Amino acid sequence: MMLSRNGRKILIAPSILSADFLALGEEVREASSAGADLLHLDMMDGHFVPNLTFGPPVIEGLRKITDVPLEAHLMVEHPEIYLPELAQYGMHRVTVHWEASSHLHYVLSRIRELGMRAGVALSPATPVTMVSEILDMIDLVLVMTVNPGFGGQSFIPHSFEKIAAMRDLLDKRGASHVRLEVDGGIKPANIARVVDCGADTVVMGSAIFGDTPCEAVFRDIRKRLEENQ
Ligand code: DX5
Ligand code: ZN
Repeated sequence: MMLSRNGRKILIAPSILSADFLALGEEVREASSAGADLLHLDMMDGHFVPNLTFGPPVIEGLRKITDVPLEAHLMVEHPEIYLPELAQYGMHRVTVHWEASSHLHYVLSRIRELGMRAGVALSPATPVTMVSEILDMIDLVLVMTVNPGFGGQSFIPHSFEKIAAMRDLLDKRGASHVRLEVDGGIKPANIARVVDCGADTVVMGSAIFGDTPCEAVFRDIRKRLEENQ
């Protein structure tokens, strides 16, 4: 098993944003059988980010074709609006942006109240300390390693330091229940380094749904992580 710096299983979460939407069912089945630990679903509203993707009806369909746990990454304003529907469609965990929630404490308690795990995402310019007051309310912190909105962007190099700073903060506060997820520009070539910095959950979009078959990408990922143990 591939382990993170703090001894947890490293989870790989393919983001369907780069999948072929005309063959979404097939793409999701392929990623599920290649070894996806979670399916990462990027919901965008054209307001919080300058892009639109899909909403709860698509998620309802996806739930029926895979047993892999679903995680929603909400890049939307007023994320609380969508929570009951996401819970109804069996969402395992929901991540909201720190920058998009004026009443983050309330939104996080709603997520848990509805029986889902709660996550907070930080855009690149948001300091790691912004999670300080809510560590006991979250199961996951998502460090964005690109600006949210689009797949296929380049990893922001400063993110290595930021991931390490977040790892440090979580360790110092004894928040071992909080997973540290990274999202944006992660490829087989840099996955070992983000894990070295302290990430334990890795989102990958264009790398997994690109030209190389899913299965081969997963083999490559495992090889690189194993070599790095
Ligand atoms: C970007 C999304 C990501 C995106 C990652 O706003 O949150 O999940 O799909 O795509 P890659 O891995 O191509 O950067
Ligand atoms: Zn995402």
